[in-house]
Amino acid sequence: MPYEIYKILHLTGIFLLTSGLVGMLVLAWTGHQIAGKVKTFAFVTHGVGMLFMLVSGFGLLARMGFMHDQGLPFWIYVKLTVWLIMGGIIALVKRKGAIGWPLYFLMMAIFIVAAYFGVYKPS
Ligand code: HEM
Repeated sequence: MPYEIYKILHLTGIFLLTSGLVGMLVLAWTGHQIAGKVKTFAFVTHGVGMLFMLVSGFGLLARMGFMHDQGLPFWIYVKLTVWLIMGGIIALVKRKGAIGWPLYFLMMAIFIVAAYFGVYKPS
């Protein structure tokens, strides 16, 4: 698959991941019962988003020539760490979502770290 398709998948993954996390935040924040179709919406968009981010991320790395035997550049380890955090944080949002804004800003800060390392690629 060409680089551009992986990039579109990476950006689509961000849309899905954010839909799931913010969906769960609003449910928990408003005290809405996290069950049935809204629970499915939050977890499925989050899960599929996570899958898109990982597959497209390695696809981008391959097309950009970073997948060689010298190992991955430093900035990718930061992105993989962000990916793991974004994976686990939905459990925190489900339990502590009533906190509201601070949790939203925490997720945004974590996203900005991924965006910074994705754009500047500091090695
Ligand atoms: C949830 C975690 C992640 C988020 C929020 C995220 C977000 C981003 C963003 C915003 C960009 C900049 C896109 C642009 O230049 O227009 C980017 C680029 C990139 N990301 Fe991720 N990313 C994540 C995980 C990953 C993972 C796990 C990998 C690798 C396995 C990865 C590999 C890349 C690569 C290679 C680029 C550079 C693309 C380019 O320069 O064209 N990302 N990412």
